[in-house]
Amino acid sequence: MDVERYGPWALVVGGSEGVGAAFARKLAASGFKLVLVARKPGPLEEVAQDLRGKGAEVRTLSVDMGKADAIDRVRTVTDDVEVGLLVYNAGANAMRGNFVELDPAVYRTVIGVNVIGQSEFARHYGGLMRQRERGGIILTGSLSGYIGSASLAAYCGAKAFSRVFSEALWAECEQFGVDVLHLNLGLTATPAMERLGYDLSAASTPDQVAQEGLDNVANGPVWIAGGQANIDRAQASASAQPRAAAVRAVAAPPRK
Ligand SMILES: NC(=O)c1ccc[n+]([C@@H]2O[C@H](COP(=O)([O-])OP(=O)(O)OC[C@H]3O[C@@H](n4cnc5c(N)ncnc54)[C@H](OP(=O)(O)O)[C@@H]3O)[C@@H](O)[C@H]2O)c1
Repeated sequence: MDVERYGPWALVVGGSEGVGAAFARKLAASGFKLVLVARKPGPLEEVAQDLRGKGAEVRTLSVDMGKADAIDRVRTVTDDVEVGLLVYNAGANAMRGNFVELDPAVYRTVIGVNVIGQSEFARHYGGLMRQRERGGIILTGSLSGYIGSASLAAYCGAKAFSRVFSEALWAECEQFGVDVLHLNLGLTATPAMERLGYDLSAASTPDQVAQEGLDNVANGPVWIAGGQANIDRAQASASAQPRAAAVRAVAAPPRK
């Protein structure tokens, strides 16, 4: 990853574990300075200490991206440095349920982290990159953004927003020399998925996915990680007809 083009600092939102931590390790190895953000301070500090031990300069901040003040809080640790790469990775969905029965706090968090958060961070850091006429923005998506799945309405909708938003942003930012990539993930063996009890025997690894993201930052607007099987799944989900049968077929039961 070219630190001259995308550095000197990278901001990884959701950089304490899984794909975000893999991005952080790879970027540090390429000479980037890092700002890592997540909610739990312990895992954040663990990653930061490891990278500092290898010579990297690393800042951390515990912030909840679902809160309205997230961008202002993160700016307190980035306003004095040049963020040339934004990796917005946070965004998984821990709680399933019928939308009309959900605690509003659940869908507000999903929409806050994925829709509001991605927009606010892309606007702020993208605006600065546009002035410098260089930089990169990676926004993480999901195959769930290609078809509505019962019990995941807000998550599917938010990831569809992220993909279409990224496409438009990519088209706009091309003229400014800023690369935009929607990094679309299939099942990936992250600690979050482990905690939810998924069978991850056939999943991609965080390392593979982060490497695909870095290798393809200039190949936007959308990169589907995990190979041809995931590309086929995305295409099938997006184009399946009749829609009613396709949507019923992907319905997942609510998680207890
Ligand atoms: N893993 C998969 O199979 C899979 C599949 C499709 C798409 N994706 C997408 O890939 C991305 C990473 O997913 P993941 O499985 O690693 O789980 P995740 O729960 O999004 O966690 C990733 C990182 O984000 C942080 N994070 C989560 N919620 C946050 C919040 N509200 N505010 C600040 N930081 C937050 C986590 O640390 P804290 O918990 O300490 O905050 C962690 O560092 C997400 O956007 C997800 O939608 C994942």
